[in-house]
Amino acid sequence: MTMPWQRTAAGANLLGPDGSLGVTIFEEMTTLAARHGAINLGQGFPDEDGPAAISRIARDAIAAGDNQYAPGKGILDLRRAVAEHQERFYGLTPDPETEIIISTGATEAIAAAILSLTGPGDEVLTFEPFYDAYGAMIGLSGATHTTAALLAPDFMPDLGTLEHSFSERTRMVIVNNPHNPTGAVFPPEVLREVVRLATKYDALILTDEVYEHLTFGVAHTPVATMPGAAERTLTISSAGKTFSFTGWKIGWLSGPAELVAAARTVKQFLSYSSGTPFQTAIAHALRMEDAFFTDAAATLQRKRDILADGLRAAGMEVYTPQGTYFINADTSPLGFTDSLALARRLPELVGVAAIPVPVFCHAEGAERTKSLLRFAFCKKVELLERAAGQLATLKEHL
Ligand SMILES: Cc1ncc(COP(=O)(O)O)c(C=O)c1O
Repeated sequence: MTMPWQRTAAGANLLGPDGSLGVTIFEEMTTLAARHGAINLGQGFPDEDGPAAISRIARDAIAAGDNQYAPGKGILDLRRAVAEHQERFYGLTPDPETEIIISTGATEAIAAAILSLTGPGDEVLTFEPFYDAYGAMIGLSGATHTTAALLAPDFMPDLGTLEHSFSERTRMVIVNNPHNPTGAVFPPEVLREVVRLATKYDALILTDEVYEHLTFGVAHTPVATMPGAAERTLTISSAGKTFSFTGWKIGWLSGPAELVAAARTVKQFLSYSSGTPFQTAIAHALRMEDAFFTDAAATLQRKRDILADGLRAAGMEVYTPQGTYFINADTSPLGFTDSLALARRLPELVGVAAIPVPVFCHAEGAERTKSLLRFAFCKKVELLERAAGQLATLKEHL
């Protein structure tokens, strides 16, 4: 029997190489990395904690007895802090009472939005490659997952043909900007076209901006700031990436009150409410001075450059990302046309683990990206330098 989550390529990735259920490619690579003592650049989480002062606030909140259910929509102080953040950085002014909810990471906000607003008969459009949770959630909602290609080297959609991906059935278009896995940052002209088409086809826009502060020399433009977008756009972000607290799973969703209310109704039955003491701490994190946000991006940019040099030395073609934690590298100059097979050998060959980009695609996109690997650079400098040195020896090991 085909289960709902198996309706998409992303869901099918949950079938391990031995056919076992529940083994993702991420887990498989982690196991391989451990077996070979390899540096794991497959996983997209930092190996250093966020600010100590913020952890202390969470510990103090626990000690002070802040340990029972938070209100379903999140504690008021955090909803206010999200509103202040949106105004400080983007000039947006969501109402903390009706236009913001706190979620258990961005993941739950994605689930709640897709499950509450789409269903059988609808099409949900994502760019491809796509973050795997979108495919799985669209599968669970019963909607049809359609895609529009992002093409190397800059991983932008072709604005001349983007309209071909829309139809009268398109209920929602999901934007992920900055984009995982490619590291692309969409400029305003791309967002303007997405908004124009969403308006023409009367589709909602769900925008996942968890890497909003992690851009390198380019500005992040939230979709909701584009003319005509706000009334149909739900914006998602999360504390995980910006503050290096991925394990706290505190995210948020904002947009028009009726869309937020729909997502909140589903969230009620997913987690009901999200980690109370972490909410208190993240309210403080969001109010940190601007320097924190710019320093975090500058540090990450230096790490990106260390890894990029190692991948170039290995003989790969590097697509330098403008944002996120991730670099895509093309292994075809080395003669590879199957990045999944190479990813399975890389830990043993050079002691580095990566993720094959085709796992973020349906069949056609997988063919287009079959020689690409995704490497994470949200790791300590010493580790990245070591990984870069090991990657540079790849040709000797082939
Ligand atoms: C694009 C994107 N969205 C959402 C998430 C999940 O965020 P969270 O940990 O806040 O649920 C990730 C994590 O890798 C991501 O890359």
